[in-house]
Amino acid sequence: MSAPKTARGLEGVIALESKICSIDGTAGSLVYRGYDIADLAANCPFEDVAWLLWTGELPSGAESERLNSQLAAHRVLPPAVHEFLARVGEHAEPMSVLRTAVSMLPLYDHPLESDDDPLTQSIRLTARIPTIIAAFERRRAGLMPIRPLTHGSTAHNFLYMMTGSEPGEAAEHIFDTCLTLHAEHGLNASTFTARTVAATLTDLHSAVTAAIGALKGPLHGGANTAVMHMLQELESNQMSPQDFILTKLEKKERIMGFGHRVYRTIDPRAVILKELLQALSDEQGGSVWLDMSMEIMETMTASKNLYPNVDFFSASVYATLGIPADMFTPIFALSRVSGWTAHVLEQWNDNRLIRPRAAYVGPSGRSVGSTHTDKRPS
Ligand code: ACO
Repeated sequence: MSAPKTARGLEGVIALESKICSIDGTAGSLVYRGYDIADLAANCPFEDVAWLLWTGELPSGAESERLNSQLAAHRVLPPAVHEFLARVGEHAEPMSVLRTAVSMLPLYDHPLESDDDPLTQSIRLTARIPTIIAAFERRRAGLMPIRPLTHGSTAHNFLYMMTGSEPGEAAEHIFDTCLTLHAEHGLNASTFTARTVAATLTDLHSAVTAAIGALKGPLHGGANTAVMHMLQELESNQMSPQDFILTKLEKKERIMGFGHRVYRTIDPRAVILKELLQALSDEQGGSVWLDMSMEIMETMTASKNLYPNVDFFSASVYATLGIPADMFTPIFALSRVSGWTAHVLEQWNDNRLIRPRAAYVGPSGRSVGSTHTDKRPS
């Protein structure tokens, strides 16, 4: 009997219904809760977008104020997490540090906080992830972490806690836009992971910890760090961007930041990120990253018909803002936690265990008998 047909990598499988995000991969459109991503990026701060993802509506003025106060109140980390960040060592991989720190958080919640409703827990986690990332960046540079401010946006606080000086309006605005662009993207690998874990009715932190593990991989969120390493490699050798890419393709290497399971055209987030990079480049009188990126994009489109995804231009935007390459994926998580938790809330609202099956294609009819010696004490 032949095995039933499988959808390799679950391509094309509609696993569930969701009201959070819609993507048209042919037209290149991305919509959160009915709002086009370009509209949200131009007109809403990240916090309002997170609220939209969690609740389905943009916040009223009062809701926005309350959300910002809740975020400010929860940015401080439990001392045990700071102790872990101080001990973990400068060579630790930042996504592994973030994953471990997030899984530690509920161990040190005040007993009353453990009973908080899932939305409050989502807000608290969204407040704390930037503090974890910034504190680790300071520690590995031999510096003391900086306490979050009691005011200001997520973008403002994060850049302040990373660098020690409050960011200018332009840097804060660009970073805030990046957060909105990375907040949500349907049933991508890490969000599907979060929903699968949440569907067992375990806790929110377990779902987000697993999602961070999935995001870390270079085929998913880890691609933004890999893009910067590729640009640095190109900068340090004598080849033209075109020859560099064509040589890699000849060797059957994947070009990071290109291709997507859903998009068949340029990712709409890459369009906006390219504009941000262009604006940063104009401000600074040119950018080597932008010049290289444009030539790589032309080469990839002409030779492979592959287009940039969100990770391609975001890498150069973050690098231009002075952020180290291995912090790019944690920053992705800093924003995507809003999407992950929105999906966990939606999953719990109408839960069913997620449990697909595999088509068994292994051997059958075997017997231990003559081929194996039982070494257990008799
Ligand atoms: N560079 C070179 N070739 C590529 C690339 C790439 N970036 N992406 C796809 N291809 C080729 C594959 O080699 C394959 O060719 P083949 O059929 O001749 O073997 C074909 O396109 C299809 O590739 P798949 O891996 O089957 O496509 P899939 O939909 O599974 O992959 C993925 C999507 C993983 C994003 C892929 O495009 C990739 O590896 N890109 C680079 C990594 C990356 O940028 N990831 C970030 C994605 S966005 C995000 O997760 C936030």
